[in-house]
Amino acid sequence: MIAIRTEKEIDLMRQANAIVAHAHKLAATMIQPGVRTDEIDRAVEALILSEGGKPAFKGYRGYPASTCISIEEEVVHGIPGARKLQAGQVVSIDIGASYKGYFGDAAVTHACSGVDLLRVRLLDVTDLALSRAIRQARTGGHLNDIGKVIEQTAHDAGFSVVRDYVGHGIGTQMHEEPQVLNFDNRMPGPELREGMVLAIEPMLNAGTDEVRSKSDGWTVVTADGKPSAHFEHTVVVREAGGEILSWCDAPMWGDKQD
Ligand code: MF3
Ligand code: CO
Repeated sequence: MIAIRTEKEIDLMRQANAIVAHAHKLAATMIQPGVRTDEIDRAVEALILSEGGKPAFKGYRGYPASTCISIEEEVVHGIPGARKLQAGQVVSIDIGASYKGYFGDAAVTHACSGVDLLRVRLLDVTDLALSRAIRQARTGGHLNDIGKVIEQTAHDAGFSVVRDYVGHGIGTQMHEEPQVLNFDNRMPGPELREGMVLAIEPMLNAGTDEVRSKSDGWTVVTADGKPSAHFEHTVVVREAGGEILSWCDAPMWGDKQD
């Protein structure tokens, strides 16, 4: 069963996602060489709490932080710590918050200082894949339309799609039905209906789609060590395509709504 949310519930989710967006805006200002990833995590956590939200990731299945910060070949679920950002790296920041019982979830991958052309393209294509997927979050479409356009966009650019991690429904829990695949499942899947809320989160790799988990039990890395990018928005299914609840006018996102 995929929940259909009332406009009142969607308003609460808009507020939860506004907190997530503000946190992203703050995090974006901290993406600089020499910054420790746990400094970013602490600032984000403080902001979420100051706006009356709760960090959604902290304590989730024992996860120890309020953000996931995944650098270079780290795909998702990087744990913030003493590691410092370096110029030339791609850095994914993933943030979740709850507000009055409703959840918001969004991720963006930043370029730390100057990055090479491969990385610029990887970020652009992953962001484009998300934009195109959001357009498919429309009444009367099918769930698989989302994965199909993500896979097509990745493959056209010569990138691979991570298959082991997926997007999800979101509402009164961070993870709800359905799973939102980032690839073509070759079956239409459930029909999309107005008021369904999905966290769509493509993860694209410069090389192989194969990933493995590190011994910390969380960090997911590419098997070949090549860089990976991850973008995520919380989106309501609407007639004309998805309405983004986690919209953020921070760098990497602000100039990219289409
Ligand atoms: N955006 C990620 C997800 O939807 C974040 C979860 S990380 C965890 O799965 F730490 F909370 F597990
Ligand atoms: Co998510």
